[in-house]
Amino acid sequence: MSQRSTVILGTGSYAPARVLSNAELAQTIDSSDEWIHTRSGIRERRIAAPGEMTSDMAVVAAKNALEDAKLTAADIDLLIVATITPDLPMPAAACIIQHKLGLPTATACFDLNAACSGFIYAFDTACAMLSSGRYRKALVIGVEKLSSIVDWQDRTTCVLFGDGAGAVVVGLSDQPGVGLIGTKLGAYGESVDLLYIPAGGSSRPASGTSVSAGDHFIKMKGKEVFKMAVRAMEESARDILEQHGLTATQIGLVIPHQANLRIIEAIAQYLELPMDRFFVNVDRYGNTSAASIPIALDEARRSGRIRAGDITLLVAFGAGLTYGSALIRW
Ligand code: ACO
Repeated sequence: MSQRSTVILGTGSYAPARVLSNAELAQTIDSSDEWIHTRSGIRERRIAAPGEMTSDMAVVAAKNALEDAKLTAADIDLLIVATITPDLPMPAAACIIQHKLGLPTATACFDLNAACSGFIYAFDTACAMLSSGRYRKALVIGVEKLSSIVDWQDRTTCVLFGDGAGAVVVGLSDQPGVGLIGTKLGAYGESVDLLYIPAGGSSRPASGTSVSAGDHFIKMKGKEVFKMAVRAMEESARDILEQHGLTATQIGLVIPHQANLRIIEAIAQYLELPMDRFFVNVDRYGNTSAASIPIALDEARRSGRIRAGDITLLVAFGAGLTYGSALIRW
């Protein structure tokens, strides 16, 4: 018997209402709209409202995805939440989201931390678990409230990040030739210190000293991350295409992690693809880490950029430094 394929049945996303423009941000730090836009392509980002939690954003995106899939909470038996900003250090945001969504008790719920590559890692995990035959329908959410871990005094990082959520419902299909073609995941663990949060984990638990030093905020060596990002994304895209006997020109749309327009442009150049084959919304949201790809995927689908039969390439990198890519035929 041939194996059933794993398919995306619906997508959804959510961005908080509050828009923080570069111009407004530049009133609080030594920067400008011109600098931020030229170096990153970002014009504005969304910021969660006071009291609006990661789980709240995830719930809206998930409800949109369920509605798009014409399914209800009762249909789900697997929930994976990709995030580095769960509501609480413990337990998993997935358990809080399960309750808020009213998912059945018999739903496997867990978080996955692969930073900006988190959604692709979570999607791959969900597809593998569904393919095992032990689960029927998965909800995969990428969600971040990065505004809570950004140092708003640090102009080298705070201009880059934003909040938001994206979700997909994944199921099994007997239709031949559609669904997940393959994934390629990896990490450069030797480069952890290029992008990390020094305190608040078990190696340096929260203390008065760590808090006053601002060590619970994201620290990043931007230039080095930039170079690694281009290399990792380009290599993983090339590898996955080669592995499946495809060429870049066969890709209808590339949905890259939205960190910096210059990173996306560099990958387009390496893959020798025109920029109109890349979905870009970094100008409106900045880098929303694990939420970036599912938000872009939802916007791409809803705006008609993905048609039946198309092949889409998802490609990401993030803290870890993790990387991942996925090929999907619609
Ligand atoms: N406004 C004005 N000037 C600034 C700002 C700012 N916001 N930030 C830095 N500068 C200054 C620097 O201090 C530096 O000044 P100097 O030359 O006097 O020292 C100058 O601008 C140039 O800084 P660079 O860091 O060299 O600028 P660069 O062109 O590399 O752009 C950027 C910086 C945008 C951060 C880029 O390196 C980048 O995008 N890196 C990748 C980041 C990323 O994608 N991270 C994603 C992973 S996130 C995750 O996994 C959660």
